Amino acid sequence: MSLKSGNVSARLLSQLHRAAQVAVLTGAGISAESGLPTFRGAGGLWRTYRAEELATPQAFTRNPQLVWEWYNHRRERVRSHQPNAGHYALAQLRRFVGELILLTQCVDGYHQQAGCVDAIELHGNILVSRCLKCGKDGEVENWREGLPYCACGGMQRPGVVWFGESLPVTALERAHAAAATCSVFISIGTSALVYPAAQLPHLAGARGAYVVEINPEETALTPYADEFLQGPSGEILPQLIHALEKVSS
Ligand code: OAD
Repeated sequence: MSLKSGNVSARLLSQLHRAAQVAVLTGAGISAESGLPTFRGAGGLWRTYRAEELATPQAFTRNPQLVWEWYNHRRERVRSHQPNAGHYALAQLRRFVGELILLTQCVDGYHQQAGCVDAIELHGNILVSRCLKCGKDGEVENWREGLPYCACGGMQRPGVVWFGESLPVTALERAHAAAATCSVFISIGTSALVYPAAQLPHLAGARGAYVVEINPEETALTPYADEFLQGPSGEILPQLIHALEKVSS
């Protein structure tokens, strides 16, 4: 069996081949080829919009209508686009490794749509509405003056994590546990700038995991990665699956 296939290194194939557990962290870049904008690159949301006016609890208190307008615009975009080849390839990865734990900063739900139903959402989900009164995530019962209300009568907010807020406790605990125990950690489509998610590959590396990065651009993580696969994830991930199929046939 030859372990080298196409652009995928023999070392990576062999690391994946014997990995009992692989942790993957994705960011907005994995959905770029679906047509969703990232946050920081060319055309990124934070190049056009100010995070402090739209994605903080203070912004929501100040002007909930404006915040909802922006999130509704993004929701429509998520609903009218689909997962891409990268999402589907990633869903295939679990066929080749012991256990796959998928951690995502994406809020679009595309991993789940592509078949990774157990993706761990670190920053919430943009399609979820959370009631400020009863705390439940649920359907919007009605819209009044640009604001959504729950069946209990409470106003709802988008079910995402805003700047200045903590990540969901269970999701973060599972992410830390995965970083501590995985033998391969793959960071895909994230600028690796936003903590605590950005810390995860470093935690994994410090525990001896083989750290791989997939991104068209170098990031804050690149100097620390054992391997950097430069390119769009919609191309690299299918190549990786193809290589794994070849070596396991
Ligand atoms: P960023 O916008 O910071 O980074 C996106 C990354 O995707 C960049 O490094 C790009 O080079 C890369 N990229 C672009 N196209 C790509 C492609 N086709 N394939 C692979 N990678 C590609 O997005 P995140 O790192 O996800 O938080 O941002 C982290 C968090 O900051 C977000 O979850 C969001 C944001 O503010 C909250 O909203 C709390």
